[in-house]
Amino acid sequence: MGFLLMRLFLILCLGLVTCERTRVLKKEAYATVPELIATAGYPIEKHRVTTEDGYIIQMHRIPAGRRIARKAGFSAKGKKAVLIVHGLLGSSGDFVIMGPERSLAYLLADEGYDVWLGNLRGNIYTSHVNYTKRNPKFWNFSFHEHGKYDVPAMVDKILNVTSVPKVMYVGYSMGTTSFFVMMSERPEYNDKIISFVALAPAVYLSNIKPLAVTALKTLELPERMRAQGMLSVSLSRDILDLLIGSMCFRGKPEDDICMRIVYMIVGEDNEQYDKDITAVLLARAQPASWRHLEHFGKIAISGVFTSWEDGLWGRVKPYNITNVKVPVTLLYGGNDQLTEKNQIMRLADELSATGMLEGVRPACEWPKFNHLDFAFARDVGTLLNRPLVVYINTLFNKYGPK
Ligand SMILES: *[C@@H]1O[C@H](CO)[C@@H](O)[C@H](O)[C@H]1NC(C)=O
Ligand SMILES: *[C@@H]1O[C@H](CO)[C@@H](O)[C@H](O)[C@H]1NC(C)=O
Ligand SMILES: *[C@@H]1O[C@H](CO)[C@@H](O)[C@H](O)[C@H]1NC(C)=O
Ligand SMILES: *[C@@H]1O[C@H](CO)[C@@H](O)[C@H](O)[C@H]1NC(C)=O
Repeated sequence: MGFLLMRLFLILCLGLVTCERTRVLKKEAYATVPELIATAGYPIEKHRVTTEDGYIIQMHRIPAGRRIARKAGFSAKGKKAVLIVHGLLGSSGDFVIMGPERSLAYLLADEGYDVWLGNLRGNIYTSHVNYTKRNPKFWNFSFHEHGKYDVPAMVDKILNVTSVPKVMYVGYSMGTTSFFVMMSERPEYNDKIISFVALAPAVYLSNIKPLAVTALKTLELPERMRAQGMLSVSLSRDILDLLIGSMCFRGKPEDDICMRIVYMIVGEDNEQYDKDITAVLLARAQPASWRHLEHFGKIAISGVFTSWEDGLWGRVKPYNITNVKVPVTLLYGGNDQLTEKNQIMRLADELSATGMLEGVRPACEWPKFNHLDFAFARDVGTLLNRPLVVYINTLFNKYGPK
């Protein structure tokens, strides 16, 4: 009897949480990226590419804007191609989730660009020829492998499908880390890139050294979690439902315990906080590997943009930033606590020394612009993305194929 009551109680609770979820969350939370793009009225293509080391990646292409694509005889051939690469916990969806008026991918497509959205191994649009995601070997990677294998494979795919000689690269956070790794390890890819726009570049991270030391050295988080059988950094569906349904993202961010924690890491910006989108983002968040955290941690702790080599406490071997031979623009957020201005300035100095710094500047005038605002600010369209499209156009005119 007690058992039955308990089960009833559990079912009731779960039911409540589930009802809450459907009440709170919009359908965008569970739609695939191709579904989102098609629903927004844009043409969508899926392209599959396999990396040298056996990871299969699905890329998402928006070959035209909403109006153009409806015209007869439309062809994307010879258009200006842009590759956009996401950050940690992200996917191709991060550049469409804010909708046609605000998201970078749509704004670029409407301006006549051939937009390619990349995916990095580990997220829902990736798999492996031999390992499932239940195999620990699947998760044996960080942004080193993104830069050495994933991004080059995606660049080659674009050049092959479009037959354009070069592509513009826009990276956000870890999408920029991956770019610098690619150029360090495979400098021949300089010839395939027009120019690089780095949103919140994650290369130097000394500002988060205390956080890294606590998580990796004091708490030994990755080792403990691996020992518990947790193969990747991810939230189970139950925890997710609990967070979204009852604990988090319900009221003002000032009163929200979950947002207080997030803000401690990325910087506080209540004005640009969008409650509806935050719950959607949480539901759409992708897993990270423990190695991601360890490798970023090694960089934060050593103060060097170092490769992984023999592990977290092993040898420090800097990636070669002087191998970057394309013009780079660095954009920082005025209140980004994760990829801080000072750290980005250090990178700017190095690029400046090799003559590859096209520019370094705040992403926008808004002083509280934080790390997440680059993708998800309430006004990301007017603050960042519309001016960015204009800027990308000037880069194409200056450096693009003539
Ligand atoms: C996948 O498995 C096949 C057969 O065992 C092997 O030949 C191949 O090298 C493996 N590929 C990768 C990337 O692990
Ligand atoms: C992970 O990959 C590295 C090479 O990048 C290899 O040396 C190591 O043995 C791999 N570890 C596991 C557990 O597969
Ligand atoms: C481009 O794709 C075609 C058709 O899939 C393939 O035969 C060719 O080898 C590819 N070329 C390059 C340079 O990858
Ligand atoms: C970095 O690459 C440049 C060529 O771009 C080379 O001259 C230099 O020796 C490399 N530095 C290191 C430390 O490998």
